[in-house]
Amino acid sequence: MKVGFFQFAPKFGEIQHNLNVILQAIEEFSVDLLVFPELALSGYQFTSKAEVEELSQETAGCPALQRIQTALQGGGLYVVLGFAERVGGNLYNSALLIGPRGPLGLYRKTHLFFEETLWFSPGNTGFQVWDIGTAKVGIMVCFDWFYPESARTLALNGAEILCHPSNLVLPYCPDAMVTRCLENRVFTVTANRIGLEERGGKPPLRFIGMSEVVAPNGQILFRAPESETSLYACDIDIAQARNKRINPYNDLLKDRHPQWYAEGTAGE
Ligand code: ACM
Repeated sequence: MKVGFFQFAPKFGEIQHNLNVILQAIEEFSVDLLVFPELALSGYQFTSKAEVEELSQETAGCPALQRIQTALQGGGLYVVLGFAERVGGNLYNSALLIGPRGPLGLYRKTHLFFEETLWFSPGNTGFQVWDIGTAKVGIMVCFDWFYPESARTLALNGAEILCHPSNLVLPYCPDAMVTRCLENRVFTVTANRIGLEERGGKPPLRFIGMSEVVAPNGQILFRAPESETSLYACDIDIAQARNKRINPYNDLLKDRHPQWYAEGTAGE
């Protein structure tokens, strides 16, 4: 199967423009699974909750998501896209999995980063896994990588590919994903954004690019540059993620000892 990502610089607040860029990437790409960045429709550096509300979408009946759905109808492509979601009075930093027959799964970011904690509620979906025919896929969003429990839970729930829409500003994640892949024997597709946002007199945020596809053996199949728009796809052998045997004596998931993996009290 073929997986890919689209690394670009969403323009803050310009949903129509960002949507058109996304639709063009969908049109140009002939793959099975394509991942877009976190908050790809709205941009990232909000200055107030009112601004998030204005740029957020209700999933049902959302014209932008409907246009993506229409573009995918009848084809073979599945897309994962980050967006600000409005549900009643709550806002979530969410990602939607959409396929040829419409939306298949929704993930709401669990581990919120920095000022996101001011605008969004922590996700309440948990780490679910969906079957897209060619593979079982799960979603984690950006800073979720910092908590190894996110990737582990997805792997334990059967995910073979972790789709990872991101807006990374710190330099650590691209290398860390090698470990996430090794310790879970999964593929990851990190779709980061590029560009700079400097809004409301706040310190600028420079997004680090370096979107990548990493294999279950930790091999970086491709890593994008730090500041260029990149549309990339590669063939992967999903059987590599299904084989959890490390050697004749060790099976990655069966050899866990969860009775010793306590909740702990150090964080209280
Ligand atoms: C992040 O979670 N957007 C760094």
